Amino acid sequence: MTTPRPTHRRGRLAAAAGCLAAAALAVTIAVPAAAAGSTLQAAAGETNRYFGTAIAANKLSDGTYTNIANREFNMITAENEMKMDATEPNRGQFSYSNGDRIVNWARQNGKQVRGHALAWHSQQPGWMQNLSGTDLRNAMLNHVTQVASYYKGKIYAWDVVNEAYADGSSGGRRDSNLQRTGNDWIEAAFRAARAADPGAKLCYNDYNTDNWSHAKTQGVYNMVRDFKSRGVPIDCVGFQAHFNSGNPVPSNYDVTLRNFAALGVDVQITELDIEGSGSSQAQQYQGVVQACLSVARCTGITVWGVRDSDSWRASGTPLLFDGSGNKKAAYTSVLNQLNAGGTTNPNPNPTTPTPTDPNPTPTPTNPGGSTPSCTATYSEGQKWNDRFNGTVTIRANTNISSWQSTVTVRSPQKIIATWNGSPTWDSSGNVMTMRPSGSGALSAGQTTSFGFTVQHGGNWTWPSITCSAS
Ligand code: G3I
Repeated sequence: MTTPRPTHRRGRLAAAAGCLAAAALAVTIAVPAAAAGSTLQAAAGETNRYFGTAIAANKLSDGTYTNIANREFNMITAENEMKMDATEPNRGQFSYSNGDRIVNWARQNGKQVRGHALAWHSQQPGWMQNLSGTDLRNAMLNHVTQVASYYKGKIYAWDVVNEAYADGSSGGRRDSNLQRTGNDWIEAAFRAARAADPGAKLCYNDYNTDNWSHAKTQGVYNMVRDFKSRGVPIDCVGFQAHFNSGNPVPSNYDVTLRNFAALGVDVQITELDIEGSGSSQAQQYQGVVQACLSVARCTGITVWGVRDSDSWRASGTPLLFDGSGNKKAAYTSVLNQLNAGGTTNPNPNPTTPTPTDPNPTPTPTNPGGSTPSCTATYSEGQKWNDRFNGTVTIRANTNISSWQSTVTVRSPQKIIATWNGSPTWDSSGNVMTMRPSGSGALSAGQTTSFGFTVQHGGNWTWPSITCSAS
């Protein structure tokens, strides 16, 4: 199928439009550049998704490892460092040093963090394994509260409960010391996590829940449906996605993801790895990415490690980079599939946290008192049958303390999603004014950008853009 082209030709300059404040200069230039994402995070970002990896704290000193991780991924999960045995090795004594190393590395590099995992039958500290009944229930709830409170504001999504369903044909709960405290232990954990960190998305996470016809998948689905109907605070379901030849990617994976999303939760691929090599491995990876991109509320994909040699099952070479850090065929198939596009996540993931700067840059003052001005450049992004993405890059021509940019679309076009800014709308709904979500201060020559999705209704005309600065 051929994709209709916007009526504007590449390189054409669009006319400047919009009102200019007395002390502001507005310039509008359209320089289209439909660059495909050249890294996993950039390619996933084209549809408002993240691409993540598990990180081990003891590998943060390995330059090859951190270079790849920094370049390719924008969502970080601690592989082991936030688990119950790591964070509460002795009852009431919490230890966050290794978890902090990972969170700090992520935040210093502008990445977000998935928290893994608050309550789990496995990797419990010895003292907890020996508890039961009310004592265990209270210890578990205290653990959830303490750890979620400690990391409050730093976690995009928590795996609140991990792997609570049984394998096999029962479709019921796994027997465990936590389960024996009463069937409501899972919802109790979710309520405690919500109270501790209301800003984090709260996920249930499990494996072997990928095939829609499996009893375990149905069991988890029924729990999530029940939680949603009773107002138990659950926001997302994580699909671990550990595949091998005995447990290949199911052909109905998209059905599973779509059905869960229809319950009103986000879905995320949380621990993806696929044993194998060459084109067959590449094809299976492609299938997983395609399934996620076909479901608007599949908000991101995390692979469970960086290089094959970093994997918990290294002999199965299940990851996207080989032991030397070279990109594998699986990497290329994932990147290409991300760049092929799909549905757009309607609720863009929050922007990456701004690293804490111990010496914050003072608000720039203008040399010689020159009039604050900025330039807005439009570049086209992904295009689909019904909509297209655009990015506006704001460049400060002088030192500026803030900026605002208007984006005017033409009927029947509608802007249906935005990211990296705070939008307001005129009464017609055709003119969006975008302002920075944080400080808008830029030094001369600095740039920032925001993006949006236009549902075009058959009108492929590019929006008009203006920029004004103060
Ligand atoms: O660090 C110690 C080392 O000092 C010691 O010499 C060695 C001896 O066994 O153990 C090392 O710790 C191991 C740790 O991984 C770090 O490599 C633990 O024994 C080992 O049990 C632990 O395995 C982790 C496993 O979870 C534990 O359940 C894997 O790294 C981790 O990838 C894996 O991740 C899980 C997810 O959390 C949940 N879903 C399944 C997934 C794969 O099992």
